[in-house]
Amino acid sequence: MTSRQRLVVGISGATGAQYAIRLLECVRELGSVETHLVVSPAGLLNIHHELALSRQAVHALADHVYSHRDVGATLASGSFVTAGMVIVPCSMRTLAAVAHGLSDNLLTRAADVTLKERRRLVMMVRETPFNLAHLRNMTAVTEMGGVIFPPLPAFYMHPQSITEMVDHTVYRVLDLLGIEVTNPRWSGMTPPCTS
Ligand SMILES: Cc1cc2nc3c(=O)[nH]c(=O)nc-3n(C[C@H](O)[C@H](O)[C@H](O)COP(=O)(O)O)c2cc1C
Repeated sequence: MTSRQRLVVGISGATGAQYAIRLLECVRELGSVETHLVVSPAGLLNIHHELALSRQAVHALADHVYSHRDVGATLASGSFVTAGMVIVPCSMRTLAAVAHGLSDNLLTRAADVTLKERRRLVMMVRETPFNLAHLRNMTAVTEMGGVIFPPLPAFYMHPQSITEMVDHTVYRVLDLLGIEVTNPRWSGMTPPCTS
């Protein structure tokens, strides 16, 4: 039995692969959390397209890696205790599969297990604009206890780069998963200039 917390990370085929990579890098730096990674084929396609990273380079960022087809893996069972799961980024297809309990691959099965075990599931859904099916699926996941967390940049921290923007979102997600990071936090607004 590991003494480190386990975090399941699913990468699906929405744009925003950088969020997944930064999340894996941050967690790796912390050292206190063991990552279990499942990447869908479309997720890998996007990683190649957006970041020109190889499959091996992505796999090297995680402690354990599974094929999305391996529905017999440990992650497919609730007896494999984890601190939760994040799907980053989360496509509308994967959202729909989770919302409807399809468990059609290891990524969606692990999400299903996370919900049924009443563990934290954070889904970084990405699409724009949304159609009614997307909105209803997000509602269904929320009703089941999942957290819908679209990766929307915040400007109030005055980010100086895309990496800073991405990191701010990643830190907020890690907060939701109960993973402690020392990150810059909002400390209130300076009084407005009156002149
Ligand atoms: C370059 C690229 C960007 C995409 N971006 C999105 C997106 O932002 N959101 C989305 O829901 N689907 C997006 N898709 C479509 C999904 O990859 C596609 O629906 C796929 O079947 C999702 O499979 P998965 O959920 O198993 O990863 C994109 C596809 C490509 C090739």
